[in-house]
Amino acid sequence: MKKIKISPSILSADFSQLGNEIKRLEKAGADMIHVDVMDGHFVPNLTIGPPVIKSLRKYTNLIFDVHLMISPVHKYIKDFSDAGANVITIHPEATENLKESIDLIKSLDKKAGVSLNPDSKIDLITNVLKDIDLVLVMSVYPGFGGQKFMPEVISKIENLQKIKERDSLNFDIEVDGGINFENSKNVINAGANILVSGTTIFKSNNGDIKKNIETLKIN
Ligand code: DX5
Ligand code: ZN
Repeated sequence: MKKIKISPSILSADFSQLGNEIKRLEKAGADMIHVDVMDGHFVPNLTIGPPVIKSLRKYTNLIFDVHLMISPVHKYIKDFSDAGANVITIHPEATENLKESIDLIKSLDKKAGVSLNPDSKIDLITNVLKDIDLVLVMSVYPGFGGQKFMPEVISKIENLQKIKERDSLNFDIEVDGGINFENSKNVINAGANILVSGTTIFKSNNGDIKKNIETLKIN
């Protein structure tokens, strides 16, 4: 059986206690910490930037899985790397030259991810699949936590998994948005090996994050 990793999104955490929330996630068995960065321009919401990530870095050694929903993204990549990001994921629509941005991330010794919005086709990133470490499949329109999972992305995950097998590629398939105890199994069966979750982890079962992380993994 493949190993499933859970990357809790701190978008649903208590923002006044982010350091402690991250420690709580680590204790509860989180594999990575998903950090949603929004600029009020690429997506209609604003969150946090490099200084906050830098200040959180000392709370854990877990991987910081940083999802950049900002445009133009290229000139900020180094700042997020310096702040302590381990995985840097960008949207192809947010950069003028996707290959150059991926190369920059890799030159900083970070893992490079590329994200596909619900409407974005795999074609958009086919030529870089061999260069990246991760594809982040959005199962909601990026911008907000707590949205409803879009089941139509399942076939995109299946197709990515097929390409991965056909071409013997190594990228992780991570799914982000509306993941819950009902759909987690379907995305895993389709090919995903990393699940992002904010609402389900922080709000289900009266906020029992340990139970929620475990249930998402084994469900
Ligand atoms: C949406 C973000 C997601 C989101 C996930 O733009 O990229 O990471 O916070 O949260 P839930 O699990 O609540 O959909
Ligand atoms: Zn995200």
